[in-house]
Amino acid sequence: MLRVTNVTKKFGELTAVNNLSFEVCQGQIFGIAGPNGAGKSTVYNLITGLYDFKGTISFKEQDISGLPSHRIARLGIARTFQIPQTFPSLTVTKSIEVGSYFGSLKGFDKDHVDQVLAFVNLAEKRDAPTGSLNLLHKKMLMIGAALATRPEILMLDEPMAGSNAKEIIQLMDLIRRINQDLGITIILIEHFMKVLTELTQTLLILETGTKICCGDPQKVTSDPRVIECYLGNCND
Ligand SMILES: Nc1ncnc2c1ncn2[C@@H]1O[C@H](COP(=O)(O)OP(=O)(O)O)[C@@H](O)[C@H]1O
Ligand SMILES: [Mg+2]
Repeated sequence: MLRVTNVTKKFGELTAVNNLSFEVCQGQIFGIAGPNGAGKSTVYNLITGLYDFKGTISFKEQDISGLPSHRIARLGIARTFQIPQTFPSLTVTKSIEVGSYFGSLKGFDKDHVDQVLAFVNLAEKRDAPTGSLNLLHKKMLMIGAALATRPEILMLDEPMAGSNAKEIIQLMDLIRRINQDLGITIILIEHFMKVLTELTQTLLILETGTKICCGDPQKVTSDPRVIECYLGNCND
């Protein structure tokens, strides 16, 4: 569904992504892990058209390399950011409407907005200004705004960061429902290995922009190269 082929991105002297290739199949939850600075968020920035790069990225067999971000979004690729991005003065409902508006040229669909609000468990907060939400609700809202664009693929950037155990369970449940009930393909950047091994079918490990390995999460997390580069110092 999404194919990244021989992609390299340099920022000056720094190679943030180094000749990277991987493929995400329709319907799966695909995990990406690796130490800080490994290039994970940069991969999202390249897929969503924020920077130019060497190599090819295709979505449903269409080459999307070099397309502007809004066109890539309209093709059905949505993302969230590592730090929740919301409009503090907008209400929760209005924020979802912005997503709905962005995803369709016809304007927003009120019923769909209501469905999304319920799906991300924010119906009771619908009139609250987003600035008043706690971190978990801000994350739910950011995911809701992305869902409102009616994506085929949703890319989540460290959605569990800063969450406690109970919130992690709620976010995992939401991610599972998005995948299973809505049929949306998911790419998940995450630090928590337990979350990745429970949720994903394929796991890619990056280190300094380079693929260390990619495949079955159980096998990947027991690979000595992965244990050395990542689990040894991150999974404490
Ligand atoms: N816009 C940018 N300009 C310069 N360097 C960048 C930029 N974005 C990311 N980098 C660098 O690229 C590397 C990978 O960053 P990033 O993709 O954010 O890593 P990760 O998400 O895995 O922690 C880091 O060394 C980072 O400092
Ligand atoms: Mg990052």
